Amino acid sequence: MKQICVVGVGYVGLVTGACFADLGNKVVALDVDRKRIENLNNGIMPIYEPGLDELVRRNVAAGRLAFTDSYAEALKGAEFVFIAVGTPSGVNGEADLQYVAAAARSIAENMAGPLVIINKSTVPIGTGDWVADIVHGAQTREIPFSVVSCPEFLREGSAIADFTNPHRTVIGSLHHEAAEKVAQLHLPLRAPIVITDLRTAEMIKYASNAFLATKISFMNELADLCDCVGADVKEVAAGMGYDARIGRHFLDAGLGWGGSCFPKDVKALAYMAKDKGLAPRILDSVTLVNYERRADVVQRLSEMLGGLEGKTIGLLGLAFKPNTDDMREAPSIDVVQHLLRAGAHVHAFDPVAMDVAQPLLPDVHMFKDPYDMAAGCNGLVVVTEWNEFKQLDLDQLKKALKEPVIFDARNIYDPQLMREKGFKYRAIGRGSPVA
Ligand SMILES: NC(=O)c1ccc[n+]([C@@H]2O[C@H](COP(=O)([O-])OP(=O)(O)OC[C@H]3O[C@@H](n4cnc5c(N)ncnc54)[C@H](O)[C@@H]3O)[C@@H](O)[C@H]2O)c1
Repeated sequence: MKQICVVGVGYVGLVTGACFADLGNKVVALDVDRKRIENLNNGIMPIYEPGLDELVRRNVAAGRLAFTDSYAEALKGAEFVFIAVGTPSGVNGEADLQYVAAAARSIAENMAGPLVIINKSTVPIGTGDWVADIVHGAQTREIPFSVVSCPEFLREGSAIADFTNPHRTVIGSLHHEAAEKVAQLHLPLRAPIVITDLRTAEMIKYASNAFLATKISFMNELADLCDCVGADVKEVAAGMGYDARIGRHFLDAGLGWGGSCFPKDVKALAYMAKDKGLAPRILDSVTLVNYERRADVVQRLSEMLGGLEGKTIGLLGLAFKPNTDDMREAPSIDVVQHLLRAGAHVHAFDPVAMDVAQPLLPDVHMFKDPYDMAAGCNGLVVVTEWNEFKQLDLDQLKKALKEPVIFDARNIYDPQLMREKGFKYRAIGRGSPVA
């Protein structure tokens, strides 16, 4: 049993805290957002993540997990502190490190004994050294500490499974003893452990996210060509994916990536390259291809409907991906803006993200049921590939629609079946420009 403090109770911090507590450690999770802590102490989760509610409840009840807004309380007796605060994009695409800096200062001011400070946030290369400087500078008396990078690779929507069964654990530090301690902490996860230096660990995280985003943008570029030459990008992806050198994941063409990580991480990596006088041509294109897709889908829908002015369009899904209510950088936001600008009215249904989405999309009419949402619509767009959309009653959907038009921007339906059912159906890269 180790005593652990987690700073930042967001997606990463809450999952990290709950999972380490579940492994038998004593965890105190801290956040500067008092409301969030108050809610957690009353059993109210700040985010939707499958299984998290139960995991938190169980570990709080067992006395292994607690929440506070006091650094002094959270650090009392702690041997490890994880920094898991946000690192959003700054104005020029750089990572905004203000929350990491504030956390490092607060840790320095409140630490009571030797600490291993572990950076779980995704931070630019060199941040670990910078955090060490901040802690040195802010300590009121000298207490030994080490900084270790241990980037997080979990995916929202499957965060608990990803945390407990990681593909690998990456640990970066210049202090061998600290790296070993962090490795010991992760041993129960039984994943390969890569121990390296701080900067290399920080780069592994950015490189991994940027590479996955590149795979998706590559497939999206290819999808347009598939449309032109009559090939099916889904089958192409399946055929490619059997090749172990390529792998079958992240080959789905569609509306592209969003969320709290890929957009900011690709931009931050490109920013770092430009800052060093390099030209990140691939990274810039990866972002460009991704964002163009959002306007493109609306343009293609407009072609199907002969214009969008005065038309009502229904969106199936709003969250940036299934199994989450996270709306950060969700493609739906841009799709809605393009639709509204073209003069359309927008309806939407999402199984969990509507409460989070409504304030961001005040002009969208949200419905509690997908069929009610489709009623009177001139066309539907599949925006998020929620499982429950895959087997909707297509006849009921068709009956509800004013015109049987579906733009499947996540390629979840079978084009053949959709045509047999009488839909005017279009998808991404499935070999048939307009049905
Ligand atoms: N969300 C993901 O899927 C994911 C996956 C891997 C890595 N990451 C990285 O992990 C980091 C955290 O991401 P997230 O999505 O969990 O962020 P988040 O926005 O959900 O949570 C961050 C939390 O930190 C708190 N916070 C901010 N400043 C603080 C301070 N000084 N002291 C204490 N708490 C403070 C905020 O109130 C918030 O609750 C980011 O760097 C992100 O890139 C995220």
